Amino acid sequence: MRLSPLLLLLPALAVALDQIPLGTRVQGWLDKAKSYLPTATPTPIQKTTPKVIEKSVTPLNLTNWQTVLEPSSHAQDWLIFVTGGNKTCLGRCENAEKAFNASVPLFAVNPTSPNLAYLNCENDKILCSIWVAGAPTVWHLQVPQVSTEEPRLPYSLHIVALNSTTVTPETIYKIHSEQTYQNVPLYDGALHPFDGWLAQYGLNVPLGYLMFGFSAVPTWVVMIAVSYFSRTYMSRRMANPGAIAGRPAQGGAN
Ligand SMILES: *[C@@H]1O[C@H](CO)[C@@H](O)[C@H](O)[C@H]1NC(C)=O
Ligand SMILES: *[C@@H]1O[C@H](CO)[C@@H](O)[C@H](O)[C@H]1NC(C)=O
Ligand SMILES: *[C@@H]1O[C@H](CO)[C@@H](O)[C@H](O)[C@H]1NC(C)=O
Ligand SMILES: *[C@@H]1O[C@H](CO)[C@@H](O)[C@H](O)[C@H]1NC(C)=O
Repeated sequence: MRLSPLLLLLPALAVALDQIPLGTRVQGWLDKAKSYLPTATPTPIQKTTPKVIEKSVTPLNLTNWQTVLEPSSHAQDWLIFVTGGNKTCLGRCENAEKAFNASVPLFAVNPTSPNLAYLNCENDKILCSIWVAGAPTVWHLQVPQVSTEEPRLPYSLHIVALNSTTVTPETIYKIHSEQTYQNVPLYDGALHPFDGWLAQYGLNVPLGYLMFGFSAVPTWVVMIAVSYFSRTYMSRRMANPGAIAGRPAQGGAN
């Protein structure tokens, strides 16, 4: 009785085994038929193995940014992804970074797509300071052609902020394909890294270093300095109450 299910399966198994020769025979016919259709077969093969086109992403850093983004013999569009890490982006950049990485193949298949670059503010803090760059953002930069005329054409810059919760690879691709950068006003303020007032006077680089210096000072140093300063100031006020008569009492009443 216990073997009955197995016994019931046996005839089905026999039928299956019997059919194998038929199966291989059918395969043989198909193979033969295929050999008569030499032009029909290559197309599906090409479709199943899509061509992988590489699109390079230039990493920008303190030493290369000015040469990479220099005007050349023809105007160039650049899409620069600014990212960061736990310190410079409070860990909010990971999603945007994934989306950017996934958008690279979308740009790769589009022959009109811009040059791609990325700037990591966690690794290149000074450059981010010089640019006053926030993360995660995409900088759409049009680098003008080299020109003999003075002054050369300006770099047109649009800074697109990314919403780290809703960003998708398509959001980033559409900045170029649907020109969504146009929804953001052109940036031509003092801090523009190429044409701004500070850059024209060569001040953006030293100022970037200065701001980086301030940010590199640990918080506790700032706190000690503030408390030292305020205590010194307070004790001077206490020692000289005539100058600010009544103030401490008012403060206590509030
Ligand atoms: C900047 O990037 C270039 C190209 O990737 C590299 O050769 C160079 O060493 C980098 N410089 C620094 C300071 O990281
Ligand atoms: C960033 O913070 C998260 C959560 O605190 C942690 O899991 C991750 O390892 C950190 N990444 C780096 C690069 O320190
Ligand atoms: C994105 O790509 C870069 C370069 O290939 C890699 O270093 C980084 O870890 C990737 N980021 C994510 C979130 O996948
Ligand atoms: C990002 O998108 C979410 C969902 O649409 C929204 O709630 C949030 O306010 C947005 N954040 C910013 C900074 O715009």
